[in-house]
Amino acid sequence: MDKIVIHGGNRLKGDVRVSGAKNSALPLLFATLLAPGVHRVSNVPNLRDIGTVEKLLTILGAEVRREGGVFTVDATRIASVEAPYDLVRTMRASVLVLGPLLARLGHARVSLPGGCAIGARPINLHLKGLEAMGAKITLDHGYVEAKARRLKGARIYLDFPTVGGTENLMMAAALAKGVTTLENAAAEPEIVELADAINCMGGKVRGAGTDTIVIEGVDELRPLGYAVMPDRIEAGTFMIAAAMTRGDVRVIGAVPAHQDALLGKLREAGVEVLVEEGAIRVRGPRKITSVNIKTQPYPGFPTDMQAQFMALMTLGNSTSIISENVFENRFMHVCELQRMGADIAIEGHTAAVRGVKSLLGAPVMATDLRASASLVLAGLAADNTTEISRIYHLDRGYERLEEKFNELGADIRRVSEVKEAVPAPLKVVGLAGDA
Ligand code: EPZ
Repeated sequence: MDKIVIHGGNRLKGDVRVSGAKNSALPLLFATLLAPGVHRVSNVPNLRDIGTVEKLLTILGAEVRREGGVFTVDATRIASVEAPYDLVRTMRASVLVLGPLLARLGHARVSLPGGCAIGARPINLHLKGLEAMGAKITLDHGYVEAKARRLKGARIYLDFPTVGGTENLMMAAALAKGVTTLENAAAEPEIVELADAINCMGGKVRGAGTDTIVIEGVDELRPLGYAVMPDRIEAGTFMIAAAMTRGDVRVIGAVPAHQDALLGKLREAGVEVLVEEGAIRVRGPRKITSVNIKTQPYPGFPTDMQAQFMALMTLGNSTSIISENVFENRFMHVCELQRMGADIAIEGHTAAVRGVKSLLGAPVMATDLRASASLVLAGLAADNTTEISRIYHLDRGYERLEEKFNELGADIRRVSEVKEAVPAPLKVVGLAGDA
């Protein structure tokens, strides 16, 4: 397994270009299952999770070709409707095949994803919505079996504005008979992009980006041609890296409208944020002001930026109260940050982060995707050397991260972890991938 070694303290300077958004590319690639024909999705980031999507689409019978960031998917022939456990447990977003397969073929068999590092992450709201549309859902040996001759439009209230649930139900409704209304729907930019893509395929989706989305089902859709938007979470991660290293970085491709909550909090923390044409420029202050954050569904402060923002707050000038309101166990980075000298106390869903003068490099372990990003950020700012193990978590959601930081002047490199002569680890049935 690889690890990342960082000699901290360098001030980051220069331009960095954001890759395509992982959390938009995933649903867009699954949306190709909605229509026969050859689809083309570009600006797809080169990530482990994208490799998992390629495998899953191929298992289902689609013909997939990748040239750089361009995916060509021929979804004419779907030979299977089953998303197998060994894939779903590595990437829970695989459950997004449910909606498209059910809508197009009237049948889907998807392994329940199981829990992951950041929480139980059930899919009950996905299933409740599909049942409201007439699907017959049964559970069989850890698999969800969903059948429907033809889904019909329904009025669905989502108990929580679930991103994946909204995406699955939007795709299911696109080919249903009649009109579906999703109330209390998620409003993330990724939802807006998926709705736009379905409309490009001939669908009729209105209201994406608000809490009420109306989908008028059509009889068939045509192949998709689409370019994935920039990744707002990767962009935010670079901004915090500049803030923590008293750097001066232009994040090329970042979309200000996707980051209001984060930009507001960075400014509150004394970070200089300049919106330029096609980029956001961030200058790190001499003194970081401690600010409080509460994660919320969009447009609130994004849960996917909580761990990275906490890394910034470890260097604040007083105490920051951080409350995680979306997932029940998303503080796995705290004990690793404490190993680096951070002063953090957790009480339930809330962490009190008392700023320290500086962090100290240490060997630490990544536990989930965004936790690993926060450890990289802490290492970039810390004195001396930080070694981060289990960075396969990082590779799920960041493309060439160490190269990009190198180009900004960081002393960071990836090394292969020497295999110590230890007994082979017990085969532990892992938790589903967190992202
Ligand atoms: C998406 O996950 C993202 N993943 C996550 O990003 C992100 O953190 C999350 O949305 C919230 O913004 C992808 O888009 C691939 P949810 P998703 O359904 O769809 C509960 C990253 O780091 N819930 O909005 O799984 C659930 O338990 C990843 O890139 C139910 O109770 O998130 C959670 O507490 C991590 N029942 C909350 O809702 C359901 O049926 C939010 O989950 C569905 C969800």
